[in-house]
Amino acid sequence: MIRQWILKLSDWGYQKIVKPRLFQQSAQKSHDELLRWLSVADNSKTLMMLASWLNALTMHKRRITIGGTTLHYPFILAAGFVKGLGFENEEKARYAVKCGMNIIPGWQCVPVLLGAVEFGSFTRYPRLGNQGEVIWRNTKTQSTQNRIGLKNAGSVASAEFLCANKKKLPPIFGINIAPSPGVTDEAQETREVIESIEAFLSRGVVPTWFTLNLSCPNTEDDPTGNQTEHKTRHLCKAVVDFLQSYPYHMPLWVKISPNLAPKQYQILMRVFTEVGVKAVIATNTLPQPSPNQPNINAGVGGGFLHPHALNAAEQLQKARFEINSHVDVIGCGGVMDGISYTRYKALGIYVVQYWSALVFRGILAPQLIESESND
Ligand SMILES: Cc1cc2nc3c(=O)[nH]c(=O)nc-3n(C[C@H](O)[C@H](O)[C@H](O)COP(=O)(O)O)c2cc1C
Repeated sequence: MIRQWILKLSDWGYQKIVKPRLFQQSAQKSHDELLRWLSVADNSKTLMMLASWLNALTMHKRRITIGGTTLHYPFILAAGFVKGLGFENEEKARYAVKCGMNIIPGWQCVPVLLGAVEFGSFTRYPRLGNQGEVIWRNTKTQSTQNRIGLKNAGSVASAEFLCANKKKLPPIFGINIAPSPGVTDEAQETREVIESIEAFLSRGVVPTWFTLNLSCPNTEDDPTGNQTEHKTRHLCKAVVDFLQSYPYHMPLWVKISPNLAPKQYQILMRVFTEVGVKAVIATNTLPQPSPNQPNINAGVGGGFLHPHALNAAEQLQKARFEINSHVDVIGCGGVMDGISYTRYKALGIYVVQYWSALVFRGILAPQLIESESND
């Protein structure tokens, strides 16, 4: 009863008061402001208490087994929200950590409010990302679009930062690792991905799962090029073998693109099954022309992505049943309300990731969506 009341009030307040004001400014400005607010919230006892109180009152927790692990809730905040600041090089990023700077805004307050979060993507070395206006929203289609370009502090500085805050890390979280864009040598790419994972584990930062992001569309790489049978098998096998050499038994999840050919989803599902990947996240954003530079693509998430991601999830589920695979499919793409979530559930997919819903539904988006899907 109190849960429904808080959710209704939050929905009304966001739609009637917060969103109209927020949407008067550009998505870029809102995003920049959001990062500042997340840093403030991470350091504010009052805001952390409020977040924890809201979580306790609105989240209907229960055990869910998925992708080789157990969650307390079927909604996971997708990678890219809590990913950290960009730096020119590793020296500068590590210096920032030494000086006590919060290089991953939201690392503490977001999981307290929303539960499971996938941190990252992190690459082996820091990246400044693309400059200028790189994030947009489309109210008509309820979509976000970005070409942030894997801006992050790099795996070593990010691991040092999380290690320094180890006691306050959430009980359940994922770490998303992306291969370094522009690296074409297979051996180097594999080495860098392993080094990234090792950066966290060797410092005792042990996530509930690792995700390998084979599908970032906003960098100098063509993401579909990372998802061929050979490349996927090679990289996933190397990572699974590496993770098995650690005593923690962390599962590997892989995040893939929308709009691949049905045959390619079949091949990928077979490869994941053979090498021991535990879950596949379908999908990342869909490349479309940028609003300000139509000759450059930027990844679309939200309502526009939804049918494409749903189709990918369906293809993967089909392939999974055909070969009797143990690899779970996690839905990601346009989970915006009870109806869109129910479409994933109709495919037998109960655990989903979300990002754009936070923009269009507000800070209690997952709780709202779940309550709508039970109506
Ligand atoms: C601003 C922004 C940054 C993102 N950065 C990443 C990232 O670093 N790594 C990643 O795997 N996905 C990233 N994503 C993709 C999301 O994790 C998610 O796959 C996508 O937005 C689809 O979900 P949605 O329809 O709920 O938005 C990003 C999305 C947005 C909007």
